[in-house]
Amino acid sequence: MSITRPRGTNDFLPEQTKKWQAVEALLRNMCREYGYQEIRTPMFEDTDLFARGVGDGTDIVQKEMYTFTDRSGRSLTLRPENTAAVCRAYGENKLYGLAKEVKLYYIGPMFRYERPQAGRFRQFHQFGLEYFGCADPMADGEIITFAWDFYQRLGLKDLKLLINSVGCANCRPAYRRALTEYFQPYLEQLCGTCRERLLRNPLRLLDCKNPACMEICAGAPKITDYLCGDCAEHYRQVKQLLQAVDIPFTEDPGLVRGLDYYTNTAFEIVVDSIGAQSAVCGGGRYDGLMQEINGQSCPAVGFALGMERIFTALAAQNESIEAEQAVDVWVIGAGSRAARDKAFAVTAALRRAGWVCGMDYEDKSMKAHMKAANRSGAPIAVVIGDDEAAAGGVLVKCMEDGSQTFVPEQELPAYLSRK
Ligand code: HAM
Repeated sequence: MSITRPRGTNDFLPEQTKKWQAVEALLRNMCREYGYQEIRTPMFEDTDLFARGVGDGTDIVQKEMYTFTDRSGRSLTLRPENTAAVCRAYGENKLYGLAKEVKLYYIGPMFRYERPQAGRFRQFHQFGLEYFGCADPMADGEIITFAWDFYQRLGLKDLKLLINSVGCANCRPAYRRALTEYFQPYLEQLCGTCRERLLRNPLRLLDCKNPACMEICAGAPKITDYLCGDCAEHYRQVKQLLQAVDIPFTEDPGLVRGLDYYTNTAFEIVVDSIGAQSAVCGGGRYDGLMQEINGQSCPAVGFALGMERIFTALAAQNESIEAEQAVDVWVIGAGSRAARDKAFAVTAALRRAGWVCGMDYEDKSMKAHMKAANRSGAPIAVVIGDDEAAAGGVLVKCMEDGSQTFVPEQELPAYLSRK
């Protein structure tokens, strides 16, 4: 039996990678505009990093990690997300020493052992931003504006921004108590996972997708009624900033996210038309995570978007990304070996001068070569037969009107530039 790719993974073929590169180029360009610099961290990390960072009680840590023991007995885990890893790298490399604020971005594969379905994979790709060193709500505003504007530039429609505040270590204990009291009478009706979570982390219940639990959650106390003065003010300012940049939002007091590190702002952008996996991105503030990982406190905020979901959403909306890698010039070498060798050298010279240039290296008839030139879509063909080679030049043919001009070889790049 032939071997196939592992469940929940994808092969991206050139037709798709072209489009991925176009999206990546847009993201990298936006990072340049906003002042984010790229960081690349390992695909695997010490398992403790995620247990501590993402949270012991989360689905990611309990059920979804690809964890293995290496040959020296260390427990390692393929990264299920990158925020904890970027925090580790920020602390370990003392990036806080470079500047008060450090703005980083990443693109790469993440791994979660989830049940594969449309838009959900075991190896998927995230683009993410992490903004360290700024406690002001403007940093939250910048992160959300980046995410929102990216989808606008991409042409995605029907976007909905959901926001919430999950408070801080000061105001959360009272909210936890209120939640525990609220859920206690419903204990028998809750699913097994929720019953188990009620004692350890009652906020997690708000994330349960079981219909019976969701019904009970609908009447649960809202965190926004329990925020301390600072958190309430932070939340108010974030909303005000979003209004100032014309970004519509919906407040969702049930939005707690599947990772434990958030404080204050939590947000997601969803596209309902793409089915159950409607979150195209998610993020928020995580002011306590650096302390947890590195022992050094530092405010931070960030988000990550699922690359695969961009394409699912675009396809659902019958949109596509223009990613044609146009060929500028097609070179034809026909006739003797010397003429073909000359064509090879001309192709190399044009590429060195920055032209997107193609050539069919096979020895075939002029008619067959012209067919290949047509197929390439290049507006110009450069033809070198025996006569041209002997005369030290090339024939430049305009593919649209068929006109031909003899051009001496040295003058070719300048001539093409003028054309
Ligand atoms: P997350 O919500 O777990 O957040 O993931 C962010 C995005 O990654 C999701 O909105 C979704 O688009 C995509 N995603 C997640 N799991 C899968 C999957 N199995 N298949 C396909 N796409 C998926 C985080 O990972 C946080 N680290 C975000 C963050 C950065 N918060 C602060 N900074």
